[in-house]
Amino acid sequence: MDKFVIRGGNPLLGTVRVSGAKNSALPCMAAAILTEDEVILENIPQVRDIETQRRLLASMGAEVELGYGRAQHRTKICCRTLSDPEAKYEIVKTMRASSLVLGPLIARCGLARVAMPGGCAIGGRPIDLHIKGLEKMGATITQEHGYLEARAARLRGAHLLFDRITVTGTEDLLMAAVLAEGETLMENCAREPEVVDLASLLTAMGARIEGAGTSTIRVHGVTRLHGARHRIHPDRIEAGTFLIAGAITGGDLIVANCNHNHLGAVISKLQEAGVRVDLLGPDSVRVRADGRLRAADISTEEYPGFPTDMQAQFMALATQAEGVSQVKENIFENRFMHVQELVRMGAHIKVDGNTATVRGPSRLSAAAVMCSDLRASASLVLAALVADGESILDRVYHMDRGYERIEEKLRGVGAQIRRLGNIFAPRDEELIAR
Ligand code: EPU
Repeated sequence: MDKFVIRGGNPLLGTVRVSGAKNSALPCMAAAILTEDEVILENIPQVRDIETQRRLLASMGAEVELGYGRAQHRTKICCRTLSDPEAKYEIVKTMRASSLVLGPLIARCGLARVAMPGGCAIGGRPIDLHIKGLEKMGATITQEHGYLEARAARLRGAHLLFDRITVTGTEDLLMAAVLAEGETLMENCAREPEVVDLASLLTAMGARIEGAGTSTIRVHGVTRLHGARHRIHPDRIEAGTFLIAGAITGGDLIVANCNHNHLGAVISKLQEAGVRVDLLGPDSVRVRADGRLRAADISTEEYPGFPTDMQAQFMALATQAEGVSQVKENIFENRFMHVQELVRMGAHIKVDGNTATVRGPSRLSAAAVMCSDLRASASLVLAALVADGESILDRVYHMDRGYERIEEKLRGVGAQIRRLGNIFAPRDEELIAR
């Protein structure tokens, strides 16, 4: 199992480049199911979840080339034949986003078998809202032996009102609606930039969609979609993680190739914490922290609120800020797994229900710590960058799911971080407990 060895104390200086957004790339890859033609996606991040999505599509009969030609970050997907429209448990158990193939498979094949994802480290994460929407569109769904089986000769447009906001639920039903007969009106949709990214790919494929990025999306179903070429937008969570890395280490860091329009809530909280943030044109942000950090409260919300995917990283920053910061998690019920590891490094954090109270600043001391999920791992990397001594982070395969060569990127701006082990060799059973 790979580990990171991190010696804290170096301010991060220079420029770090952000990769493409994992959470856009995953639904965009699933969207290729909707056409027999070739879909080419650029700016695909080289992370483990993308490889898992490739395996999933390939297991259904799709031809998927990752990093073809000279372009390492490009993928070419062709779903001319889908001999086996099934998402097998072996793959779904390692990545919940596999359920994103449900909508496109029914829309394209009239049939989908998808293993029910179990809970995961950060919460129960049911997919009842995906199922409810597909049933409203005319699908018959049965559940047996841990699999959902969905059938519909052709889905019908419907009025869908989400009981609560769901990102992949919005994406899944959007992909179902584009080939449905008639009009679908979706209300209380997720407004995340990843939904907009998917909608622009679908539009390039010939779909008729209005309102993506707002809470009401209207889709006029078409009978056929064609191939397209699309560039995935930058990863706002990776960008936000680097902004905090610059701030927490008292550095002077330029985060390049990002879209600061997607980072509003994070940038405003960094400013509240006393960090100097300058926008350098449309795709670069400079972060500087030379004075003391101040406490700031956050409360996670759906976009454009403060992202749950940045909560753990912000908590690491709060341990270095003067005063008391309240961190409230409203999206997932169990997303405080990093807290006890931060406490082991010397942080003062108390959890009560969905609120963590962080009292800072604490002098963190290096320790052996365990990563429990993707963003918790990022939080521990950030803490280790300022801890006194050499920390060892175990189970960094969690990190590899969503951050592309993070150790190389951080080393490039002055961090002392190295990997022990082989990035490409985690065993399957290591990947399950996510
Ligand atoms: N929910 C339901 N029923 C559903 C769907 C969701 O009750 O049918 C609940 C969830 O349990 C959760 C809330 O609704 O409490 C929001 O969940 P959502 O469906 O929005 O999450 P997701 O689509 O499964 C995506 C990202 C997550 C990110 C969340 C929230 C992808 C592949 N994953 O998950 O990313 O945290 O939205 O923004 O897009 C990560 O990258 O580390 C990550 C976990």
